[in-house]
This record gives sequence, C-alpha cells and structure tokens, in this order.
Amino acid sequence: MAIIGTSVQEAGAWLRDGWPVGIPTETVYGLAANACDREALLRVFETKGRPLTDPLIVHLASQEDLNRFAVDVPETAYALLEAFSPGPLTLILPKAPILPDEVSAGLTTAGFRIPSHPLTLELLRSLDFPLAAPSANLFGRTSPTTADHVADQLGERIPYILDGGPCRIGLESTVLDLSGPEPLLLREGGLTAESLEAFLGRPLQRPNRLAQADQAQRAPGTLAHHYAPSVPLFLFADDMAIIDWLNHHDHSKQGPQAPALLRFNQALMDSRCAAWNQEILSPEGDLEQAAHQLFGALRRLEKSAGIILAQKVPNTGLGAAINDRLQRASMKPL
Ligand code: TXA
Ligand code: MG
Repeated sequence: MAIIGTSVQEAGAWLRDGWPVGIPTETVYGLAANACDREALLRVFETKGRPLTDPLIVHLASQEDLNRFAVDVPETAYALLEAFSPGPLTLILPKAPILPDEVSAGLTTAGFRIPSHPLTLELLRSLDFPLAAPSANLFGRTSPTTADHVADQLGERIPYILDGGPCRIGLESTVLDLSGPEPLLLREGGLTAESLEAFLGRPLQRPNRLAQADQAQRAPGTLAHHYAPSVPLFLFADDMAIIDWLNHHDHSKQGPQAPALLRFNQALMDSRCAAWNQEILSPEGDLEQAAHQLFGALRRLEKSAGIILAQKVPNTGLGAAINDRLQRASMKPL
C-alpha cells in the first residue's frame, strides 16, 4: 500500500528511481513520472489502465523550462503564462525531441503547464526533469481531489502519495491548443473561458462537432465517456426533467440501490425522494465551491447509491467545466 506523506525528498527519490508517485496540484491530484524516461512513462499508463493513445501533460517548474521542452513557442504562450501561471492552464505546443513519444502519444505536440501547488512546485524545482502527470485515477473514472482518493483507486499500485491536502480548485486544467493558426479551447477547466477570452480580446474557437472524429487525435481524451462514477449517472437540464423521470421510472429501490441526487444549490422538494441522499454542491450557489466539491461528491455517491440523478449547474464561468464533466460522466440521455 502506498505511503501517504508530505516529504518532497521521498517523492523525489521514488521519481528518480522511475516509479510513479501521486502529487497534489491546485486542480486535481496527478500520477507523476519522469517525463524524459520512457519506462517510467509506460508505468504510468499501466498503473491507470490508460490507452497509450491518450497523451500526458508535462508539468514544469518555470517558464524558462518551456524553452527546453517546447519549440516554436509563440509570443501568445509567454503572455498567457505570464498572466495565468503557475495555475490551471495547459498549453499545447510543438514538443522538443528530448521528450519521448510516449508523453505525447506519438503526436508532434505536447501539453505543458506550471502547477501552482507549493509542494509540487518545490518537488519540480528539486528535480532535473519535468513530470508527466495525468490525473491519478483509474482510466475513465472520476479525478481525485484528495490523497485518500488517490489511495482508494491506485494505492496498491504505487509506492508514495505526496499529500498536499484537498485540491483548491477541484477541476482539471483548461487545455488551450496554441499549435495551430488560431488558439483552440480543447478542454474547459479551472481557468474560465471568459478569462482567456478577455485576455486574448476575442472569442475562443472550440473544436467543432462535425470535425470531432478528425480531431480525435488533436483533442484526445475529450470525446470518450470519461469522469464516470461506477454507478449510472443521468444528467438533467432542470427540475422538470427530473420530475418527469420520477413519473416514468421505478424509483422505489431502498438502501444502497436507492437513487441519489446531485444538486447545485438546493434539495429537490418532492416527497418521492424525501428519503434519498441529496448532495448539494454549494448551498450559496457559488460555482467555485461547486467545482471544489464535485469529484468528492461523485465519489461519495458512487459508494452509497444505485444510480445518480444529477442537475446541470449554470453554464457560466466554472459552470461550463462542471457541466462538461457531468455530461461526460453521464449515460446517454434517457
Ligand atoms: O489539471 C490537470 O491538467 C491534471 C493535473 C494532474 O495537472 N492533469 C490532467 O491530465 O487532467 P489528464 O491526463 O487527465 O488529461 C490530459 C489531457 C488529455 O486527455 C488531452 O485531452 C490533453 O490533456 N492533451 C495532452 N496532450 C495533448 C496534445 N498533445 N494534444 C492535445 N491534447 C492533449
Ligand atoms: Mg484525467
């Protein structure tokens, strides 16, 4: 079983030996390995059960490191890092040959970010290699936002988890592709699209639906059923839709098979679900708090309910990223 501790030295020692280690970031916990060591990278894919076709994000200590591991870096990249890093922003850029193909799943580009968690920044500064780190969950499942979440799914497979407390943001980084002619928002995340658009002074392009199959390679990991709890989750646009579901489905199951509700800011007032567990993400209706609570709530619900009925949150600010995760966690609409 993994040791959960706060020693940057010990985490560094395992990483230098080629072992994957759980690390805290401000977004979610990562499963880190030496980004320049092929064998260590393969262990990360194997540990998560992740297909080799899904590229990893390279975590750097500083902007200067970008010049060693990326090439043809546009001015916009430096400007964005200046404004938003360390922080929840991943930039896709052409990669330098020093990074092996395993990092980028054979693509000529790689994702780069400078995380802001102080323990992980200290760790990165103490190493002479960057850290490739996907989220520290089994492939396709919900991302971990505490060291215990990491231990729950991966504790038997890794030697050490660096415990940095609960993740401040609770949603993965925003992924922006700067390798093409126009910036392309590949994944909504902890840095809002509105902030990026205000900074860039124009609306952001997103991969368009028709081109999605083509862009499966450019935006890998953004299409599949993902972030899924181990019980079915159904996502509803509003309370009317949930009530309609109650009217047409068997909701009489009790105990661990009972349905549960994932709510934004208030419980659903309906006598038929009076006895159900209702997780409320933010009683104050604050999207940052809701983001912070999301993955933990999904983990609690998957352990205590037979089915999760989730409500969309307002689609502004961090709400867009929350809804994106809920959408991809959900089964096809009923
Ligand atoms: O917040 C985060 O980004 C967390 C923490 C640990 O830093 N990491 C994370 O990694 O979410 P992961 O592996 O769960 O998501 C990485 C995603 C890929 O699935 C893909 O969507 C995108 O980043 N990505 C990475 N490299 C890419 C590339 N070369 N081109 C396009 N997308 C890429
Ligand atoms: Mg992930």
